[in-house]
Amino acid sequence: FEGEAPGVWRYSAALPFDEGVSIQEGNTPLYEVPRLEDDLGVEALRIKHEGMNPTGSFKDRGMTVGVKVAKELGVGRLACASTGNTSAALAAYGSRGGMETLVLLPAGKVAAGKIAQASLHGARILEVDGNFDACLDIVQELAADGEAYLLNSLNPFRLEGQKTIGLEILEGFLADYDAVPDRIVLPVGNAGNTSALYKAFRELVQAGALAEDDVPKLTGVQAEGAAPMVEAIENGADEVRRWEDVETRATAIRIGNPVNAPKALPGIRETGGTAVSVTDEEITDAQRDLAGEGIGVEPASAASVAGLRKLRREGVVGDDERVACLTTGHLLKDPDAAAAAGADPEPVPADTDAVLAHLQDAE
Ligand code: F0G
Repeated sequence: FEGEAPGVWRYSAALPFDEGVSIQEGNTPLYEVPRLEDDLGVEALRIKHEGMNPTGSFKDRGMTVGVKVAKELGVGRLACASTGNTSAALAAYGSRGGMETLVLLPAGKVAAGKIAQASLHGARILEVDGNFDACLDIVQELAADGEAYLLNSLNPFRLEGQKTIGLEILEGFLADYDAVPDRIVLPVGNAGNTSALYKAFRELVQAGALAEDDVPKLTGVQAEGAAPMVEAIENGADEVRRWEDVETRATAIRIGNPVNAPKALPGIRETGGTAVSVTDEEITDAQRDLAGEGIGVEPASAASVAGLRKLRREGVVGDDERVACLTTGHLLKDPDAAAAAGADPEPVPADTDAVLAHLQDAE
């Protein structure tokens, strides 16, 4: 790929347009994490930190394409259901494109940073008395009635943009290791990224740019309290059963009906990957592990690293593997979760001697 535009649009050859409604999304860091790599005992570990996008999550890569399509179509109003990040990205890209946005959020289950973004970027925010899956049911019906243009990951143009995550990871590994990663581990909610990465790799294989055997094993991670994809993979099922009751601290992936499952299940299976669930405690531990390498992520993001740890423990991932973990959203998206996972501030008097005494006491 030799496009001159930065980030996502460098890959315009793989996208439906040459340029989009852009806020310079993509080109995110592929961090080295030497201590974590050692600790997990794999040949190589890199963190693809999608929290470094303009609105702090990978959603920007999809919106730059999806909102461009909406603009070309001349639609009046953009809409999405969201656990938070999609709403933040849609609000920002909608306002960039000069369009009205409507977002449906599950009441009480969206992290503070995300609501703040949707709000300041001017989205009309409806707080629904129901979970994300109920919000998505409603917004699909609104879209079918012609009330709005749907920009959830059911919109295939979103996933076109998200393919560039996979392309950047492959290019990054080729540059640093002269080989593509053996495995990509990623958090799963609606399984949009899983589907998008699989499509990107299939297109590369079809173009003769990637050997079939070299396609990275797509490995999805869900929270234990919201793990319908894991259930389907474990049972060898062709369809994913909708979970009505879902719960997890990782509110971004508090999803019981992964709408992209028909595309993602084959992606996981045909690449030789797997799916695994992790507890909220494992997610928080992984959030701390990443923070210890200077990388700040929201809980859902840390699920990838928590899942890799579990799969290493179970021997599913070998010590000879080169692995990329995707971290999907920035720490500041969910300041409450970060503060709960971190150390508490210590109150001290405004006096140097008292501060010194306090520090000595603590030692
Ligand atoms: N990680 C984060 C931080 C997310 O916000 C999401 C999805 C996912 C992972 C799951 O990605 O759907 O491609 O499997 N968030 C959506 C939202 C649902 O509304 O922001 P997926």
